[in-house]
Amino acid sequence: MLFLVEIFLLSLFVLGALASRVPESDILSFTKRNTPLNEFLSILIANTPAVNVSLTESTSVITTLDKLLAISTGAQTIYNELEGSCQEWTVIFARGTAEPGNVGVLVGPPLFDALGDQFGSSSIAIQGVNGYSASVEDYLAGGDPAGSAEMANQIETARSKCPNTKLIVAGYSQGCQIVHNAIAKLAATTTTWISSVLLFGDPDDGELLPNIPASKTFTACHDGDDICKNGLFILPAHLTYAENVTEAAQFAADVASA
Ligand SMILES: *[C@@H]1O[C@H](CO)[C@@H](O)[C@H](O)[C@H]1NC(C)=O
Ligand SMILES: *[C@@H]1O[C@H](CO)[C@@H](O)[C@H](O)[C@H]1NC(C)=O
Repeated sequence: MLFLVEIFLLSLFVLGALASRVPESDILSFTKRNTPLNEFLSILIANTPAVNVSLTESTSVITTLDKLLAISTGAQTIYNELEGSCQEWTVIFARGTAEPGNVGVLVGPPLFDALGDQFGSSSIAIQGVNGYSASVEDYLAGGDPAGSAEMANQIETARSKCPNTKLIVAGYSQGCQIVHNAIAKLAATTTTWISSVLLFGDPDDGELLPNIPASKTFTACHDGDDICKNGLFILPAHLTYAENVTEAAQFAADVASA
């Protein structure tokens, strides 16, 4: 019930803010389900008034925004395809702080769409990180230890179960801390097997990943994103990484064919 009220209030807030600025045709397209998420997001964010709220205050807003976006776009927020059959490509993704499901909404689903466009969606197995709190406390502590251990396990599982798959390890926000921590736990034989790493809004921006060459790592960190400076404020620049998913998918393709 609380959730519905939040959604309702947020919808009013967002639509109210948008109403005066967005062309009517765009507003009409919001009401259609399955609008491509990155299209939806770029229109939404471009027209959202600036926010500067502390991380602790912003989590309920992020959770609500994500749920609203998931409902309006039909985005799937839970993926467990590592247990299925091996595919040519495998993506293991860690979501951002306060995001729902095991892949969230703001970057995971648009990235999977972009990778699907690049490689064909039926040739990709997608796995979110389970048992990962994605809490503010764990962000402040450098990334949830349980989620980091689980992602390391999932990477090992992918390698032993599907040695011929090309593995893409990816994360958004605290999810990038999870990627850094997970990779630091792995033996070099495993990390050198990883095809590429894609990081969006990385709090450890610029920190090298052990045994992963910089040439295999794509990092998007927007100007003005305080989280990329390991800061405490969520600014609009931290919410717009869906605009970088196409370049990231192209990067993954280029690295794999190099
Ligand atoms: C956000 O607001 C706080 C105080 O409300 C201020 O200290 C901080 O510098 C602001 N951050 C940015 C990046 O604008
Ligand atoms: C991310 O997208 C923005 C906006 O299109 C662009 O300016 C920036 O160069 C992109 N960053 C990366 C790393 O691709």
